[in-house]
Amino acid sequence: MAPLFDPKDKQLSVAFVCLGNICRSPMAEAIFKHRVKELGYSPYFSNIESFGTSGWHIGESPDSRSSKCCRKHGVPVNHQAQQISTKDFDRFDYVIGMDESNLSDLKYMRPKNNKSVVDVFGKWRTNEEFDKIVSDPYYGGNDGFEYNFKQINHFTDEFLKQEIGTLD
Ligand code: 4NP
Repeated sequence: MAPLFDPKDKQLSVAFVCLGNICRSPMAEAIFKHRVKELGYSPYFSNIESFGTSGWHIGESPDSRSSKCCRKHGVPVNHQAQQISTKDFDRFDYVIGMDESNLSDLKYMRPKNNKSVVDVFGKWRTNEEFDKIVSDPYYGGNDGFEYNFKQINHFTDEFLKQEIGTLD
């Protein structure tokens, strides 16, 4: 399949959102940026960021379990936690939550008339063996982070296939 649009005409911006912006959404940002680079899709994107719905960890680096999991799989991580605000919705074509609670918070704070796609990342899943919801791993063990990593990889590749098309 050819790419669906020419990056000279349009570029996409994507925000990943979880509760604290230290575990799941920085992982999603890191994996997504890594795959975009690997696949040569960088020209298709103007901005890829991540946020928390809460401000609890503003300025902090990702949780070491999240960054270790990424680095172990060859995915670089470089982020400082930030909180999403109403004005951010107009900066992104896609505002993507990890779980249903993130999604309901995002829908609540989204400005009227905003045109962003606001959904959970699992919306793009094609393999139902992966849970649709990227669950909060904060109070669990490393296996939770490993599972999040696998889910997010699948969702990322499916997002890129469905929203950009493949380069072949
Ligand atoms: P995240 O995980 O939303 O994936 O970043 C959490 C991080 C911190 C807390 C909860 C979830 N917390 O309670 O501080």
